Amino acid sequence: MDVEKAEQTLVLIKPDALKNSLTGYVLSQLSEFHAGVRFAGAKIVYVSRMLAEEHYAEHRGKAFYPALLDYIRGLVHYPDAPQKRRVIALVYHGENAIQKIRNIAGPTNPHVARDTKPGCIRALGTVVPIVDDTGKIIAERMDNLIHASSNPTDAEREIKLWFRPTDIPPLMRIYPTGVCQDHFYYKEGKIYQEREEGCTSLLAPGDIAWASDMEVLRCVLKGATPPYPVNAVAAKYMINEAPEPDEQ
Ligand code: PPS
Repeated sequence: MDVEKAEQTLVLIKPDALKNSLTGYVLSQLSEFHAGVRFAGAKIVYVSRMLAEEHYAEHRGKAFYPALLDYIRGLVHYPDAPQKRRVIALVYHGENAIQKIRNIAGPTNPHVARDTKPGCIRALGTVVPIVDDTGKIIAERMDNLIHASSNPTDAEREIKLWFRPTDIPPLMRIYPTGVCQDHFYYKEGKIYQEREEGCTSLLAPGDIAWASDMEVLRCVLKGATPPYPVNAVAAKYMINEAPEPDEQ
C-alpha cells in the first residue's frame, strides 16, 4: 500500500485483557484478515506514571482520572504483583485504520458496547464505580480491555508518545523524522546538553528521532514554549526502565 495513503492508529491491550487471557482473542479480532490492517509496531510496556499521565493528559482533573491512571498502570488488576503490570502497545497501519479498529473495539463504555454492539471487543469489559473516602460513588471507571486512537491527531500524538521511529520499520513510518545533531539528556522535567548526575540520555548525534520531538527539545533548551510537553518526548525513551520506587 502507498505509505502516503495509509493511516496509523495506536492500540493498547490493557491489564484487564491480559489478566483475563484475552490477548489472543483481541489480536485475532484485529488481524489483517478480520480488520484489513497490519502491524507496524509492537512492544510490551511497563507503564510509568509519566507515560500514563501523558497518554491521558486531556482527562487531567476529571473525577475518574486518578483511577484511570491506576488502571492503565496495572495497579488495579495486579495490586500485589508489580511484575505483572504491563500493557501491549501496538501500531496498526492501513487505509482507514483508525475507524476500522474503533469499529471492532466498539463503544468506550462496556455497558453501551453490550447494548448497542454485541460481539465487539469492549462488550467483554466492565464498568466499576469509583468511591471517595466516605464510600460515596463519585465517578465510574471503564475497564474496556483496549484503547484505540479516536482520530488522526490523537493517533499521531499517541504513536509518537509510545514509539520511537526505529520501533517501526522504515518503510512504514508515516510521520516526519530527522537525524539528531546533538546530545539531549533528561532529568526531572528538564533538558540538558551535557551529561548531569542521574540524568537519562534521550538522544545522541546520529539517532533517528521524530522531527516534532527534536523541535520540542530545541524549544525547551531555548526557554521557548514547546508545541507539546517535554515529558511526552522523554517518556518513550524511558520505557521499561526501573519501576517506580514504591513498586520495587
Ligand atoms: S474515546 O473512546 O477515546 O473517544 O473516549 P474519550 O471520552 O475521548 O476518552 C475517555 C478515556 O477515558 C476513559 N474513561 C472514561 N471516560 C469517560 N467517563 C468515564 N467515567 C471514564 N472512565 C475512564 C475511557 O475509557 C477512555 O480511555 P480509552 O483508553 O480510550 O478507553
